[in-house]
Amino acid sequence: MEDIVEEILRLKQERKAIILAHVYQPEEIQEIADFSGDSFALSRKAAATDAEVIVFCGVRFMAETANILSPDKITLLPAVDAGCQMFDDTLEAGVRKMQAEHPDALLVSYVNTPASVKALSDVCCTSSNAAAVVQSLPKDKEILFVPDENLGAFAQAHCPEHHVICWHGGCPIHQALRVDEVEAAKAAHPEALVLMHPECRAEVRALADYVGSTTGIIKYAEQSPAQEFIIATEQGVMYELTERCPDKHFYMASRRLLCVNMKKTNLEKVRDALKTLEPRVVVPTEIREKATAALTRMLEIAGK
Ligand code: 13P
Ligand code: SF4
Repeated sequence: MEDIVEEILRLKQERKAIILAHVYQPEEIQEIADFSGDSFALSRKAAATDAEVIVFCGVRFMAETANILSPDKITLLPAVDAGCQMFDDTLEAGVRKMQAEHPDALLVSYVNTPASVKALSDVCCTSSNAAAVVQSLPKDKEILFVPDENLGAFAQAHCPEHHVICWHGGCPIHQALRVDEVEAAKAAHPEALVLMHPECRAEVRALADYVGSTTGIIKYAEQSPAQEFIIATEQGVMYELTERCPDKHFYMASRRLLCVNMKKTNLEKVRDALKTLEPRVVVPTEIREKATAALTRMLEIAGK
């Protein structure tokens, strides 16, 4: 009898589908994915694929981004209720207010936003290119950065001549990481390098040997001659790290680095999505057209 993985692979072929997974997804999902990566790599993949159906294993804003960049494809989000805790429904109104208070400012939005906020933006960014995006903008204009103040501060530190005004918000999972937790991990593993996501707070980032997106962290570990690493991002990256570097040792900086929304996808939901072609994510045309401009600008700045 056909098991669930075989069923998914068969349905995937029948539907001419591609399965994209963020690196925070459960192991069983990353194992069956055609491609796994960070938000930026997934955006590029979604924009370039010739599949007819994109099964997006991640959270809603990522599936929306895929639909904006590939509107002629069917975009499925198997975990229909997987949101991102960095923002809620009040963000759009707050961003409009911020823009009214700074009418000449440029708006940079992290991709971790709803499509309606991308539509208000001059340019988007991800954690892998926030500094490059800010750097590309004129120095004589105020830059509004939403919604992650930690990533905004990280970009500002790389672009000291720019004037970045950050929205007050962040990822509750990364923001919760404390200095004492990283210090305890360093004391337990004194040879280990600390690899950290820029969504962590500035005083915690000060303890890192490398700060970058999830793909950046994975590449750094792969290329580094070091053998031991303390990982300060969501624990899903452990799958790819141990796959790519089986002889190296990885220790989580904290057991609390777990995003429940990223764990809502499972094989049953992926199979059912392929069977029924639901639940779909469709960004309304008017929002999509405006959001496309901000996302395309990011892809142009950060390389296609
Ligand atoms: P990446 O940009 O590294 O994919 O991170 C996305 C995210 O949601 C981090 O919490
Ligand atoms: Fe959102 Fe944080 Fe989860 Fe990333 S880890 S999806 S920023 S809540």
